[in-house]
Amino acid sequence: MNIKDLFLEFFEKKGHKIIPSAPVVPENDPSVLFNTAGMQPLVPYLMGQKHPYGTRLCDSQKCIRTNDLDEVGDVTHHTFFEMLGNWSLGDYFKEESITWSFEFLTKVLNIPVERLAVTVFEGDDSVPRDEVSANVWRSLGISNNRIAYLGADDNFWIAGESGPCGGDTEIFYFRSEDEIPEVFDPEDDRWVEIWNNVFMEFYKDENGNVSELPHKNVDTGMGLERIAAVLEGVNDNYMSSVWKDIIEKIEQVTNLPYEGNEESMRIIADHLRTAVFISADPASIKPSNTDQGYILRRLIRRAIRHAKKLNIDINSDWDKEIALMIIDKYSKYYSEVVDNKDVVLEVLQTEKNKFNRTLEKGLKEFEKVTTGYAFDVLDKDIAFKLYDTYGFPIELTIELARELNLDVDVKGFNEKFKEHQEKSRAGASQKFKGGLAGNGEIETKYHTATHLLNAALKVVVNKDVHQKGSNITSERMRFDFACDHKLTDEEKVKVEELVNKWINEGLDVTFEEMSKEDAIKSGAECMFIDRYPDIVTVYSIGDVSKELCGGPHVKNTKELGHFKIKKEEASSAGVRRIKAILE
Ligand code: SER
Repeated sequence: MNIKDLFLEFFEKKGHKIIPSAPVVPENDPSVLFNTAGMQPLVPYLMGQKHPYGTRLCDSQKCIRTNDLDEVGDVTHHTFFEMLGNWSLGDYFKEESITWSFEFLTKVLNIPVERLAVTVFEGDDSVPRDEVSANVWRSLGISNNRIAYLGADDNFWIAGESGPCGGDTEIFYFRSEDEIPEVFDPEDDRWVEIWNNVFMEFYKDENGNVSELPHKNVDTGMGLERIAAVLEGVNDNYMSSVWKDIIEKIEQVTNLPYEGNEESMRIIADHLRTAVFISADPASIKPSNTDQGYILRRLIRRAIRHAKKLNIDINSDWDKEIALMIIDKYSKYYSEVVDNKDVVLEVLQTEKNKFNRTLEKGLKEFEKVTTGYAFDVLDKDIAFKLYDTYGFPIELTIELARELNLDVDVKGFNEKFKEHQEKSRAGASQKFKGGLAGNGEIETKYHTATHLLNAALKVVVNKDVHQKGSNITSERMRFDFACDHKLTDEEKVKVEELVNKWINEGLDVTFEEMSKEDAIKSGAECMFIDRYPDIVTVYSIGDVSKELCGGPHVKNTKELGHFKIKKEEASSAGVRRIKAILE
């Protein structure tokens, strides 16, 4: 059995419900482009909301971290990973959490105790030194030499700047063949962190104020890619069972050995795998120049460039073959990759066609301007031309330049970029650096407005209109829906009027829990029925809207202010997109 199955089975036996992975694009969290940790989709429940599956949960969450995207190519970095996690929502706390982690590692994965060490929180002005955790570790046979007390920088966990948080205890594994030192030194990189148990008891707001959560939670996270590499004793992660078959596929497609071509093969493996998961996501992300779409574009274009480096005939089906293999590999756990197989292949094909038209010429241009000239910094105008005319994401130009030991005038490029582009990519790059913000007041309003818009479209346009995705920031809401035509001006006005009428009527927003069956029978709107558990929360707004939803929402529509559609445009074939604001 593989590690993922062993993990889920173990925690199921300990009374946990296995929940499906949330999509990679957060459904109600505008502050991050992608889920970067297993706890992110669970924030409302960590904050006190009742989870329909109960108080003990576990899963394998699809995560994407893109801040090191350009580092991919070495032995450790990758952009997509699966995070194994178990949660207690006000149920068990430190003792059970630590005991079960230890039991799983030593009894199920059979890791010898001598190879393990831990860190615990040494405490600060507001939180005491975590002797409780340290004592549990001791009672399990971890010696004092193997317990390091560290400060908040290491052992206090929060996603970004604000949100649920708490002290943690991290588990390390001695990865080397060397003799295992008696005393654990967390700075010694032969000790690799494999699992993090966070004891989430606090909430930090945007102003830095810390308060206690309604109940004490446990949030643990173990990266599958890392634990697999560690246990299999490989120094190159891409040689572990998680990657090996993908690399073999690339060897087969390119007819080249991995040895000597590692960098490009790792980039192709990683970037195509992540591109598969992004484009298979229910959020219907397509390559573009902003937000998630820009990440998808960078991934695909960088993979294509490295395929070219390996002399692959770009126009062949190399990418399709690799993507199909990846889809097959993950089909058992994530049905969306199979259900959206055609979409994934279409995204790859379309983006490849677009980039192919200019890649060759762009590379020639790059060669022309860099050959025979002595300069250290590539000019902003060249970088911009490569972007604008040849479709080279700036990061790709930086990578090309780096190969010639050249810097790029990125600042100058950005200025030019801002001048030329309405939509600034800068917002996006800020966002994926940032962490998780709570569901702020304004986002909550937009969330409720989304339900009203959905209902109004059904009345005004067609009762078969249904939601395909939504995204909320503190500045606006975006709503994608299946619809076969561009809305007429009249339709737009009517939709706006209807939403505002409902707002002005001061309708109460209420929710109730019911079985999924009853919810469907009651006619409640639901985007992805399979993703919901047996017991669901249904939000009603007066009698105009009824939707399966996790919340949060305002209490009364009066709170929303005035609703205004800013834009209606095509999102993809058969899907329209509305951007709207509350003012
Ligand atoms: N949230 C913690 C982490 O991501 C534990 O799951 O490390």
